[in-house]
Amino acid sequence: MKKILITGGLGFVGSHLAIELSKNPCFSVSIIDPGKYFFAKGLHNYNYYNNIKINLLHQNKVNIFNIDLLNSEKITKLIKEIKPEIIVHLASVSVAGVADYYPDKAKENIFDATYNLLQTVVNKVPVERFIYISSSMVYGHFPKDENGNIILPNEDAPCNPIDIYGSFKLCCEHLIKAFHYRKKLPYVIIRPTAIYGHNDCNFRVTELFVTNALLGRPILLDNGGLHLLDFTYIDDVVKGICSTIENPNALNQTFNLSYGKGRSIKELAEIIQQYIPDTKIEKSNFPPFRPNRGALDISKAKQLLNFSPEFSLEKGIKIYIEQVKEHILNLHYPVKYF
Ligand SMILES: NC(=O)c1ccc[n+]([C@@H]2O[C@H](COP(=O)([O-])OP(=O)(O)OC[C@H]3O[C@@H](n4cnc5c(N)ncnc54)[C@H](O)[C@@H]3O)[C@@H](O)[C@H]2O)c1
Repeated sequence: MKKILITGGLGFVGSHLAIELSKNPCFSVSIIDPGKYFFAKGLHNYNYYNNIKINLLHQNKVNIFNIDLLNSEKITKLIKEIKPEIIVHLASVSVAGVADYYPDKAKENIFDATYNLLQTVVNKVPVERFIYISSSMVYGHFPKDENGNIILPNEDAPCNPIDIYGSFKLCCEHLIKAFHYRKKLPYVIIRPTAIYGHNDCNFRVTELFVTNALLGRPILLDNGGLHLLDFTYIDDVVKGICSTIENPNALNQTFNLSYGKGRSIKELAEIIQQYIPDTKIEKSNFPPFRPNRGALDISKAKQLLNFSPEFSLEKGIKIYIEQVKEHILNLHYPVKYF
């Protein structure tokens, strides 16, 4: 029985991953998560989804440990007890806007949390594999060719983050590689992007657009909705992470993990409108503040991990809308989130 420990396992991605891994009879799955949430006005939805997630995790026999990675003593004690062979480290401030708004919390829960965990793993309880969930925000602005078309970044593209979140995520990648070179830490680094799906309550664009449409509110397109994202459905991301757990090809490698197609925010709104026909789409004058992005080059994951994402935006959004519909009457969506 392989012991897998997931940090941030109560979160959106971590809970889906824990449940999927727990279905494998060869794995025993535990999560560490004290339930940290940074949107005061989203607490109602957070608590609502947390109850659902905790029930599902219990049903699937996932062990839940309510411990903060900032508490080194408790973390070391727990990891010494569990002795996990695999750690998947997702715990983080996970939204770029939150990191910009609360840089001190970003430093603690991205960088310090990762450092504490690495110290325990490297000095006290060695693991077979330390899998770090980073982000495509480490790239900053995606490069463009001479015609102004975005070049899909592969894993060797320059990393020049332009915000707090991407900067701390990149610091953690460097730290992990330093522990690899100095202390032989076996690692995998994964860079996902724009993940969407059931149980997310971090006010990301897909969640906001779908809930606004279901609540009869207009969808607002900042900057005309021209910004491109590589929207990736949660099941594809979970499948991709699972494929790095034991595959020898993944060892000491970095992977982009996404659907692999750049779609505009406007297209997202129009797809939602197809499924919820009364949806009104309006333009706002909010200036662009995120890096220019688009699709990631996922050829390395396809080649080394046999990664083959299945959910186009049309397919994933259709499922997601049906899931949100089941809960929408129990959720509260304020107009402002901080
Ligand atoms: N969702 C996306 O679109 C996306 C895209 C790229 C990368 N990522 C990365 O994937 C990971 C998971 O994202 P998510 O959307 O599930 O985020 P999430 O916010 O839903 O979950 C993060 C979890 O980490 C936990 N956490 C935070 N600080 C902690 C600490 N000090 N100790 C222990 N636990 C702590 C929180 O309680 C939370 O449950 C994050 O590392 C994020 O940066 C997410």
